[in-house]
Amino acid sequence: MSDGIHVIAEEVKICTKCPLHQTRKNAVPGEGDPLAKIMFVGEAPGFYEDVQGRPFVGAAGKLLTELIENILCIPRPSVFITNIVKCRPPENRDPLPNEVEACSQYLDRQIMLIKPKVLITLGRHSSNYILGKAGIKIKGVTDVRGKMFSLFMFDMLLNVMPTLHPAAALYNPQLKVQIEEDFRKLKNFVNTSF
Ligand code: URA
Ligand code: SF4
Repeated sequence: MSDGIHVIAEEVKICTKCPLHQTRKNAVPGEGDPLAKIMFVGEAPGFYEDVQGRPFVGAAGKLLTELIENILCIPRPSVFITNIVKCRPPENRDPLPNEVEACSQYLDRQIMLIKPKVLITLGRHSSNYILGKAGIKIKGVTDVRGKMFSLFMFDMLLNVMPTLHPAAALYNPQLKVQIEEDFRKLKNFVNTSF
């Protein structure tokens, strides 16, 4: 990892800025290529992520990895994967506003360092946070999934594509079709844009 990304990861691992540090086993800074053109942002670590200190290593992670490898046709380590909140909320509850407030500075810094060609927000919370930075309010992810936004944020023009959270698609065949459709759009965008 490049110096900057490594420094953020070390800060996250010892962070005590919000109460989630009290219940975590491991903070999950994120992983992947610091020069990645494609960056994924989920919500928060779950059980297995907390145990391993790595993002998306449970069942939802298995689906995300398959979508990256089988639809984008690239190895998972060539992208960067992280979450809005870096420590697991107890019982996998939704992150609280004060936790997002305390933690999102790490994500913001990761985005500014990596400067991805496209940022994929996974699910409502992640989409809400990122689109919200550009003043876009959403009711749910359904309205915006699969759409490519070009937004000025973090001092750059950033392409953002929201899609469903892989955990939602796991046990719902209809949503699985939709997330696969979005990944094919993403593949198309990647092929034609960079
Ligand atoms: N769900 C998320 O949002 N992030 C993870 O890292 C794992 C599951
Ligand atoms: Fe720090 Fe974020 Fe973990 Fe809270 S969730 S302790 S802000 S790294």
